Amino acid sequence: MTGSPASPRGLGDIIITSRGFGEYRAMFDLADLPLAGLSILDCPGGASGFPAGARALGARVVGVDPAYAIPPGVLIPRARRDTLYGNRYVRDHPELYVFEWFTDADDHALSRLASLDAFAADFAGPDDRYVAAVLPELPFADRSFDLVLSGHLLFTYPDHLDQAAHLAALRELVRVSRSEVRVFPLVDTTATGSPYLDHLRRAIAADGAETELRRVPYHFQRGADTMLVIGVPQGRTGQSPPVR
Ligand SMILES: C[S@@+](CC[C@H](N)C(=O)[O-])C[C@H]1O[C@@H](n2cnc3c(N)ncnc32)[C@H](O)[C@@H]1O
Repeated sequence: MTGSPASPRGLGDIIITSRGFGEYRAMFDLADLPLAGLSILDCPGGASGFPAGARALGARVVGVDPAYAIPPGVLIPRARRDTLYGNRYVRDHPELYVFEWFTDADDHALSRLASLDAFAADFAGPDDRYVAAVLPELPFADRSFDLVLSGHLLFTYPDHLDQAAHLAALRELVRVSRSEVRVFPLVDTTATGSPYLDHLRRAIAADGAETELRRVPYHFQRGADTMLVIGVPQGRTGQSPPVR
């Protein structure tokens, strides 16, 4: 993807984070959605505990991230380093966070490190559940997944991904979904709302997909309590009904 300036604001470089299954369920408002039997793409997956947790409930989850090309013996320590770096940022910028989901910065670190352990165990598993790929090109056929989740890449790092890169990525996520794409959060790492959002919603609508901003039962970054939901156009035979 394009658009990296010399000195990105906020957190800086894109880090590999490890949000847990519970965080994902709240960030993407999944609590009322039966996950059993659902095929889900988590892109970017990072070192998240979501695939392991959702799979335990019967979902079929594929994680996609360029970091999955890194050998596990290098990736896991790097994700741990990035997780601790992210926690340092939280401690240094309390004005950017709301301590509702986590009780404090220690709770944040413990939760993320536990999720990283869940990821590490699952990542060592035997099959192709974790795929190395880079948006905006995913190695999947059209409409491969019932639900596509994308957390903490788009909108989070506007200094790394410009507006055109965002649109290309969203279109690719829509292409591989049979029903919905959900994106969270809609603010960057300085908790500033995205300047791209309105344009992107108009462009996606012009493609024929509906977009909606939906409040979610998760709030950690200040002001980040809303996800973008893109309803993939139905109409061809053999498609899944909307996920909710
Ligand atoms: C902050 S992590 C988010 C991980 C996870 N979704 C979460 O919420 O914890 C951002 C991830 O985006 C990945 N990434 C960076 N550029 C990407 C791209 N062009 N396509 C897909 N993933 C990318 C990074 O490797 C990193 O793991």
